[in-house]
Amino acid sequence: MTTTTPTTFPVAQLQCETDTGIETVPLAEEASFGSWQPSIPERYWGMDADELTRRIHAARETLGDEVVVLGHHYQREDIIQFADERGDSFGLAQYAADRGESKYIVFCGVHFMAEAADILRADHQTVILPNMEAGCSMADMAAEPDVWSAWRELEDFFGSTDDIIPVTYMNSAASLKAFCGANGGVVCTSSNATKVLEWAFERGKRVFFFPDQHLGRNTGHAMDIPLEEMVLWDWRAPAGNLGRATAEELERSRIILWQGHCSVHQRFSLAQIEQARAQYPDVKIVVHPECRYDVVQEADANGSTAFIVKYVQEAPAGSVIGVGTEINLVSRLAKEHPDKTVFCLDPVVCPCSTMYRVHPAYLAWVMESLVEGEVVNRIAVPDHQRQDAKVALERMLALK
Ligand code: 13P
Ligand code: SF4
Repeated sequence: MTTTTPTTFPVAQLQCETDTGIETVPLAEEASFGSWQPSIPERYWGMDADELTRRIHAARETLGDEVVVLGHHYQREDIIQFADERGDSFGLAQYAADRGESKYIVFCGVHFMAEAADILRADHQTVILPNMEAGCSMADMAAEPDVWSAWRELEDFFGSTDDIIPVTYMNSAASLKAFCGANGGVVCTSSNATKVLEWAFERGKRVFFFPDQHLGRNTGHAMDIPLEEMVLWDWRAPAGNLGRATAEELERSRIILWQGHCSVHQRFSLAQIEQARAQYPDVKIVVHPECRYDVVQEADANGSTAFIVKYVQEAPAGSVIGVGTEINLVSRLAKEHPDKTVFCLDPVVCPCSTMYRVHPAYLAWVMESLVEGEVVNRIAVPDHQRQDAKVALERMLALK
């Protein structure tokens, strides 16, 4: 089979031992297709890369300015090539808030990102997520009833929650953004977490941060909050157990960290950094702040996906850069900067499996449906969540 969008990149020596090539295969040949959105019409299942690419281009041409395609940096090559705008989750939310003219925003990313766009979009716009099963396992670690239950326990323990500011990472359901909006809280992303926590500490004594413990801890540390003043809340603990924190830990806490994590970023380790430095003495290490505390401490720099892109772009020719983030982005950076050695710190390739679910067959399906006047896979945040979630998102966007 021929493919027009091969995504096998030149890899540096240290890179992944497993096959890094992520070639476009027909949907039916994808090993995990069984757990992706099955309602895509069967005629798309066997289409190869050539046909899908041709169809998406044709649909785009017909739709013209009616549609804008947004692509998160972790999207596969065969998708990102169609993105009018690429970005991190902050940049893409900002794009949606700027309310361009396009009637349809096709969001190539994961569910929580498309929800944020739907909350911020203009009235005349519709947000579409090509594959409704493209979620985020970290976001799934914070379910609304668990967060409410923890909040009530904190209220009982401290006597009130007046002094606790809830902060949700963008990687969370709209219901939790609404929870924050309704309870004096705010949303943050990996590109503005410090600013957001400063805002929160101007308003309260403690921050209740979810779902990513690592981003919360790394940000708290960067703000000189001692580790002993950040307590972990185990959401799997039965209610009434204070998330397995002790009363003393809670009393001295400034940040209460939800015990969530990203399984892609938790894979990066100190040993990988040591190995990279042993192999390339001049290597610079840049990681995403969803990595563990010790990894972020040891890295030369950390920041959002947009920060990592800029870091590599601005590095002088000849630089050697070990990156701790999702493989599609690292591979793209390696390809786009042949004058630099860019490699993934993790020797075992680990793409974000949910981002990967946005296969071009889904993009072709949603775009061709628009051509036929039908909207499929609309993201519609319910009205009862929209207003409060918008408050929390707009508080974040207002921080300069
Ligand atoms: P960014 O906001 O840095 O793009 O990160 C989103 C994400 O999901 C990282 O895993
Ligand atoms: Fe979620 Fe991790 Fe994938 Fe980011 S990389 S979307 S945090 S699972």
